[in-house]
Amino acid sequence: MKPLRMAVLGAGLVGRKHIKTILSLPQVAELAAVTDPMTDPAALELGGAQWFRDEKQMLDQIKPEAVIIATPNALHAGHGALCCARGIHFLVEKPVTATLDEAAELVRAVQESGVKTLVGHHRRYLSVVQEAKRLISQGALGDLVAASVIWSTRKPDDYFKVEWRTQTGGGPLLINAIHEIDLLRYLCGDIRSISGVKSNARRGFAVEDTAAALFEFANGCLGTLICSDAGFSPWTIEQGSGENPMFPGSGQSAYRLTGTKGSLELPVLRLWTAQAPGDIGWDRPIVRKAIDTPYHDPFQAQLSHFQRLIRLDETPVVPVVEGARTLAATLAVGGQGKRPREF
Ligand SMILES: NC(=O)c1ccc[n+]([C@@H]2O[C@H](COP(=O)([O-])OP(=O)(O)OC[C@H]3O[C@@H](n4cnc5c(N)ncnc54)[C@H](O)[C@@H]3O)[C@@H](O)[C@H]2O)c1
Repeated sequence: MKPLRMAVLGAGLVGRKHIKTILSLPQVAELAAVTDPMTDPAALELGGAQWFRDEKQMLDQIKPEAVIIATPNALHAGHGALCCARGIHFLVEKPVTATLDEAAELVRAVQESGVKTLVGHHRRYLSVVQEAKRLISQGALGDLVAASVIWSTRKPDDYFKVEWRTQTGGGPLLINAIHEIDLLRYLCGDIRSISGVKSNARRGFAVEDTAAALFEFANGCLGTLICSDAGFSPWTIEQGSGENPMFPGSGQSAYRLTGTKGSLELPVLRLWTAQAPGDIGWDRPIVRKAIDTPYHDPFQAQLSHFQRLIRLDETPVVPVVEGARTLAATLAVGGQGKRPREF
């Protein structure tokens, strides 16, 4: 299959991860150009890609087949629109856009242009998540009853020297928990209503440091999520899955899903079921089965899927419209029994 001729917009923290990923998979993609108006490219390994400071100039001169948008949230909508106007497929980092109105506009532009899109909810490509999805779909848990998720770590104080991280939109809900809400939607289905509370009691910034949310899924399953960047704990999906080398492993799971026939811990996958088929009850033994899955880098898996999406018309795992639904659910935390905006 022919590699994608690609460009990356934004060479910051996550843009560099995408650049590395592209350079590591030459059979999947070729890096033609990188654009960033602020960063000094001297220290970056670009594999011979051209460097630009202006995104429009790059798009019109290089004419990439596909782009990764790894710019600040407020620029996602505009950069997506530039791609739509030129018929360029794109993968935009999460959140899909900064606001729901922008998301609606981008969904419309994508539909009109026919370009193929992904939103960077890379956790859906973790092999443990794929396995959990398979087990749930096959009925290993029976009907889903409830899901309980915690994402809690203590970010260092100097992380907050960057002003926007202390303001609305810069907190753990939109930066971190959006990934958990996306996974909850993936594993448990569409969300019917959401309520939640936010607190800034530990850091005192304008933005939350902690949030607690309640979810009612369309299939009747209920869910809870606690997310905090103030509480030091072993419970984040990063610490259990090893997906981010910055997080030392804890060997602990952050998700617990219960069903009428059994339960599942994730990302350290453990399936709890009856000792004998159908022998279910509070006075019956429940047995644990550890499930081993080989680790695959989710960013590499995401890029390979992007290639197949464009070349083979594979069904997108998280297109822009799906990213918009996850954004709507995330922004609804803090409301009371709110139905998330529909896309
Ligand atoms: N998938 C993930 O796990 C993950 C992780 C981190 C960040 N993100 C998302 O990725 C995006 C970037 O986050 P980050 O942490 O890398 O931020 P960052 O600030 O480190 O990087 C953003 C880069 O974009 C550049 N930039 C600004 N304007 C630009 C323009 N017009 N054209 C091209 N480049 C421009 C900046 O100079 C900067 O280098 C955010 O939307 C964030 O939410 C996703």
